[in-house]
Amino acid sequence: MCRATGGTVGFVPTMGALHEGHISLIEASKKENHFTLGSIFVNPTQFNNKEDLAKYPRTEVEDTEMLRKAGCDAVFIPYVSEIYPEKPYHIPEIDLNGMDEVMEGAFRPGHFKGVLQVVYILLKIVEPDVLYLGQKDFQQQAILRLLLDQQFPQIRMNTVPTYRSESGLALSSRNRRLTEEQKVQALAIYKTLLEIKSQLPSNNVSEILTQSKENLENTGLKPEYISIADQKTLSILDKVTENDRVAICIAAFAGEIRLIDNMLWPED
Ligand code: PAJ
Repeated sequence: MCRATGGTVGFVPTMGALHEGHISLIEASKKENHFTLGSIFVNPTQFNNKEDLAKYPRTEVEDTEMLRKAGCDAVFIPYVSEIYPEKPYHIPEIDLNGMDEVMEGAFRPGHFKGVLQVVYILLKIVEPDVLYLGQKDFQQQAILRLLLDQQFPQIRMNTVPTYRSESGLALSSRNRRLTEEQKVQALAIYKTLLEIKSQLPSNNVSEILTQSKENLENTGLKPEYISIADQKTLSILDKVTENDRVAICIAAFAGEIRLIDNMLWPED
C-alpha cells in the first residue's frame, strides 16, 4: 500500500532486547519515511561464542511494546526456519578488502560472515528504501555499506549516532547483564575515547594507545583491543594527520561481558 502510493520504507534490523539506542534508529526512520519496519531476530550465525548466544537477552513482549510506543508501523519477527530454510539463500561473495579481518573480525572469527548473511536475507525479504544502522557498531556499518554498494545499490544507508546514558555509557543490550560496579567500570571506556580524541592528530599513536590500555586495565576492565582506523577503509593507523577521518574503537570485558564503543575524529 505504502509502495503503491510512492511512499518510502525505512528498515531497522535488531536482535531485540531493545533500548533507547534502538529507538533512536526507529525515530530517525520515522522522520524520513512513510513507513517504518523493525525486525527482531537473534541471529545464531553471527555468534562465535555459544554461551553468548544462549545468554543473549530475549524480551519480545517488552520489545514490541517499545516499538509500538515509538510509533514503529510494523515489526518482523521471523522464525529461524524463515531466514535459514532447508533450501538456503545463496549469499554472494562480497569484496571486503580485509575490512572483516581487523578489530571485531580478528577477535570474533566468522562474526561478520554471519552479519552479512542475515542482513542480505533480511534485505531480500523486506526490500526497504533506507537501511538504518547505529554508529555504535562502527565496523558493522562500514562493512554493510559495502554490501549495499555491491548488491543493493537502490537501498540508501543511514548511520545514526551512538545513543549514550547521561554518564556517557553507550547503550547496549548487553548492559543489562552488568552489575552496578561493572557499570561504573564501563564508564572508563567512554572517558578513554574522549582522552584519545583530545590527543589527535598524532605521530605516535602506539604510545597513546599503550597508555590508554593501561588506564583501562587499572579500572579493572580487560581491554581486547584499542585501535584507530580509517573511517572508510578500516585500515589501522599508526599515525593520524589533520587530513585523516578516523574511528577510535575499543572492545573490553567487564567481567564476562564484552563491550564495544567508538568515537569519530575530528567530528563525532
Ligand atoms: P543489535 O545489536 O540489536 O543492534 C541493532 C542496531 O541498533 C544496530 O544497527 C546497532 O548499531 C544499533 N544500536 C545498538 N546500540 C545503539 C546505541 N547505543 N546507539 C545507536 N544505535 C545503536 O547489530 C545488530 O543487532 C545485528 O548485528 C543486526 C544488524 C541486527 C544483524 O543481526
